[in-house]
Amino acid sequence: MTATERGVGLADQSADAETVLAWFRRMRENAPVSHDSEAGVWHVFRHADVERILADPGTFSSDFSSLMASQEDVARFIKGNLLRKDPPQHRKLRTLVSKVFTPGMVAQLAPRIEVITDELLDAKAGAEQMELVSDLAYPLPVIVIAELLGIPVEDRPMFGRWADSLVAPESQTSFIPNAERTQAMAVVMREMNAYCLEHIRHRRARPQDDLASRLVAAEVDGQRLDDEEIIGFVGLLLLAGHITTTALLGNVVLCLDEHPDAAAALRADTGGLPGAIEEVLRFRTPLAPSMRRTTRDVQVGEHTVPAGQIVLAWLASANRDERQFSEPDRFDIRRTPNAHLSFGHGIHFCLGAPLARLEVRIAVQKMLTRWSGMSIGEGVEHHDARGIVGAKRLPLHLRWA
Ligand code: HEM
Repeated sequence: MTATERGVGLADQSADAETVLAWFRRMRENAPVSHDSEAGVWHVFRHADVERILADPGTFSSDFSSLMASQEDVARFIKGNLLRKDPPQHRKLRTLVSKVFTPGMVAQLAPRIEVITDELLDAKAGAEQMELVSDLAYPLPVIVIAELLGIPVEDRPMFGRWADSLVAPESQTSFIPNAERTQAMAVVMREMNAYCLEHIRHRRARPQDDLASRLVAAEVDGQRLDDEEIIGFVGLLLLAGHITTTALLGNVVLCLDEHPDAAAALRADTGGLPGAIEEVLRFRTPLAPSMRRTTRDVQVGEHTVPAGQIVLAWLASANRDERQFSEPDRFDIRRTPNAHLSFGHGIHFCLGAPLARLEVRIAVQKMLTRWSGMSIGEGVEHHDARGIVGAKRLPLHLRWA
């Protein structure tokens, strides 16, 4: 039986969050590790199996370069993309970028994130409606990353355009790399590479107080990042950091709309926001799967997965696994412990997690204090829930205090 026959597969036209969650539930119970012959991938649904896969980079590789077009622009673009690197290259890159992208550095951004959020919200002062994604959830993380890197304000729209064309899934299976698709993206990658290279060269010549200058200067045990590694990292920051954070902010609003008691509790005490954001991350997992490639034949559950196979480790399913969470389908802003896998696990654990948490906490806090209420309007549009769980368009009605 194929995954599609069981309810929903990657080959299906589209899938909403409820349909996908029902599929996860069935699969966790009946076929927790299963081969999908139509899409040519293996699916893994239970928390313990997903966690184990992410913890074993030797067997479950993140390097998909063999599936991508062997093209110079692509090779340059992925050289510093640590998300797609295995040890030992991953370790070198992660150690160097972690030196620069520290939780302390992120914490110092709080006042600036407050100002950017206020500016975006001020543009809607007194308005009865807004579209959350285009007015706040999309621009906020893009502006923060661009500022962090020292990208001039006038160049930001260009970055947004690049990010959109590299991330926007044109089909449900588009997140699985293949030569044709990477070839099509090579043009955008070339433009981005050239821009980033120029930016890095400027910073080498005249260092400033920004992340790009610090990446240029970073050194650990005599090792430094070369220009191409910095390009790849900058590209990753831009792509990894914006669509997911946008989705998370929208997901907070969707969860609070569905759970007015939780919204009231947070209005009364915004101190509960960090816990609530963790629960939103679990309940509506922004990045539904993590992808790996097997380097050898390996036993997962009752199956032997052969070497060279693509494995989709479903974070969004692991986060609803009744073996890990009590009452997993209940939204509980006070849930402890909350061992969700939304930021991954192991060596690739999301480097931007502190930044995403900070941006979303500041934004939600301001929304709760500025408005006495908000409700969701007509015309909500969602991404395909087998890729990104989140809204593409989220109209809101606002009530002012
Ligand atoms: C890695 C999710 C925001 C930068 C990851 C991974 C996940 C993830 C699941 C691991 C993927 C894997 O193992 O295959 C998220 C979510 C976010 C978010 C849900 C927002 C809610 C950000 C932000 C940044 C960022 C804001 C940076 C500005 C990265 C980087 C990696 C990564 C650099 C690769 C780390 C490595 O390979 O060592 N993220 N992310 N992410 N994320 Fe995030």
